[in-house]
Amino acid sequence: MAALSIALSKGRIFDETLPLFAAAGIEPAENPQNSRKLIMPSTHPDVQFLIVRASDVPTYVQHGGAHLGVVGKDVLMEHGGDGLVEPLDLNIARCKLMVAGYPDTNLDQRKRWRVATKFPNCARQHFAKHARQIEIIKLYGSMELAPLVGLCDLIVDVVDSGATLKANGLEPLELMAHISSRVVVNRAALKTNNQPISDLLHQLEAAVSKST
Ligand code: ATP
Ligand code: PRP
Repeated sequence: MAALSIALSKGRIFDETLPLFAAAGIEPAENPQNSRKLIMPSTHPDVQFLIVRASDVPTYVQHGGAHLGVVGKDVLMEHGGDGLVEPLDLNIARCKLMVAGYPDTNLDQRKRWRVATKFPNCARQHFAKHARQIEIIKLYGSMELAPLVGLCDLIVDVVDSGATLKANGLEPLELMAHISSRVVVNRAALKTNNQPISDLLHQLEAAVSKST
């Protein structure tokens, strides 16, 4: 096995992370668009990429299946961060975690809100902070559809341009957190593999400051 395994999800995070790794001298050895491989060697002999689902990145890193990973802060907050350290903000895949719903919804109205989300822990914490009662409806995607078919009153989801909300007659109602992608490291690996991890983090940090 390569000295360092890095868990990445395909799509947005992969696309935006690759230039930063390239600046640190690490590129996938094959074209990731065409490859079905889940373990992808890199041009660096000691580094390989592991292709996992975005919401599984913290789990792989927590349990030592990967030494490091790149994950949205939304997914990280939902996971809770057990067994992980979060040393670097890559400042990519920026968006906001928000409560959204129909325009003119009064969130201070006293009722039991039905909230559809793939972030139940974040939603519970946020609504508890505001002393609002909720019932969670767990979904895995297309959250914006749920209010339209009467599944819920509100959604908790990430919002970037707001176009998806708008196209579905919804609007952002309350900010929960500013989101960007973070490097996470297995807490134990940070001790046992300190040198290569620190070197990589320094190179990535330099790439991030050049790109911003
Ligand atoms: P999964 O397959 O595990 O459900 P996903 O489909 O949400 O994950 P992506 O859509 O690739 O995975 O999103 C990865 C991360 O990118 C999210 O965790 C979030 O931090 C960020 N993100 C999601 N949507 C947007 C967006 N519209 N604009 C910018 N960043 C976004
Ligand atoms: C994400 C998110 C919203 C949308 C927000 O979905 O779940 O639906 O982006 O972006 P906007 O504010 O710019 O419209 P994504 O496009 O990643 O699809 P997904 O549901 O497959 O994750």
